[in-house]
Amino acid sequence: MSAGSLIVSYDVDALRAREFPWAARGERIYLDHAATGPLPQRARDIQAEANAYRAELWRVGFEYFWEGVVRGRDLSAQLLNASPEEMAITTNTSQGVNLAARALPFAAGDVVVSSAGEFPANIYPWMGLEKAKGVSLHLVPMKDRLPDEDALIAALDLPRVRALTVSWVSFATGARLNLARLGAACRERGIWFVVDAIQGLGPATLDVKACHIDILASGAQKWLLSPWGTGFAYVRRELVQELDPPAVGWLSMPASADFTRFLDYDYAFYPDARKFEVFTAPMHDLKAMVASLSLFLELGPAAVEAHVASLADHVVAWCEGRRDVRLVTPAARARRAGLMSIAVDDLAAASVRLSEAGVSHTVREGGVRLSPHLYNTTADLDTALAALAPR
Ligand SMILES: Cc1ncc(COP(=O)(O)O)c(C=O)c1O
Repeated sequence: MSAGSLIVSYDVDALRAREFPWAARGERIYLDHAATGPLPQRARDIQAEANAYRAELWRVGFEYFWEGVVRGRDLSAQLLNASPEEMAITTNTSQGVNLAARALPFAAGDVVVSSAGEFPANIYPWMGLEKAKGVSLHLVPMKDRLPDEDALIAALDLPRVRALTVSWVSFATGARLNLARLGAACRERGIWFVVDAIQGLGPATLDVKACHIDILASGAQKWLLSPWGTGFAYVRRELVQELDPPAVGWLSMPASADFTRFLDYDYAFYPDARKFEVFTAPMHDLKAMVASLSLFLELGPAAVEAHVASLADHVVAWCEGRRDVRLVTPAARARRAGLMSIAVDDLAAASVRLSEAGVSHTVREGGVRLSPHLYNTTADLDTALAALAPR
């Protein structure tokens, strides 16, 4: 029986012992994956090794480091049901959102639709487009403080709408949008669909094809348990061909593939998403990202999703049994992932109690964010919830 007595298709105790030994030792209850994810042991090991080789480069070939880039495209593609040719390595979410804003061929007077309540990483790049190209950003008001899917779809019929851009899961409320529904609505209307996936990918599974996503951006530093400065962008195959990269990298051209003949310039891009990469990347950190992504693929993304969903169920059931707290996150499974936001009367005092109980958490937009992940247990949550509302 695991510490949290969860029925899952992987052994949580063994996972904790192997990959999160500090959790197995009870040193910390980490429920802050919506802010930054800790590195699993395998990523920590490879990062230490790669850092050592970074200091003494001659001990390994360039291929050792380059593998992080190639496998990074490969494994991120597997997580998304994409192909590696549709993946570009990035250093954060913002880079992918900016790629969408600057590469898609908008014209003055065009409209981009998004939701109020979006994290600024998916707002400012579009506001920048307003300044640069006269494209306006239309923010659809929320309903009951949550993104309003029906209203977003209705807004797609406004004149000159060319793109919809949303966070899959809200950083503030944990509300998860139905991307398949939104994507289908965009596709029917010939509207580009752009997704910031950072708060959903890992605790939930995503199929970019089934959701008709045109461009997806995600950093890997949160739920994907990878170093800061790692991430990726997906660009739908047909768009890879059509779009010009807004920033041009020297390694985006086959002409640079032969390192002995850099000066044979030829302004012709690779036919795949490498054309959107702007090098040099944090190679040693990408090695660690690959290790972390491999953990998800080994456990099975669906098994991870089931585990996190059952932890979130536990939070929902606890909230439903109390009058002194309000669950900000929608209760229905399909409308949440791993980020759970709970409103209590005295947020500051609750946060102090959580810290005293050794629980990593954050306070955002009127709620305490508890964001459990693949190695957390219901026992972890019980400690946190008891500290959150002790009476
Ligand atoms: C929805 C969302 N998008 C983006 C980010 C971060 O963007 P970046 O990876 O560019 O730092 C966050 C959190 O920091 C977030 O919650």
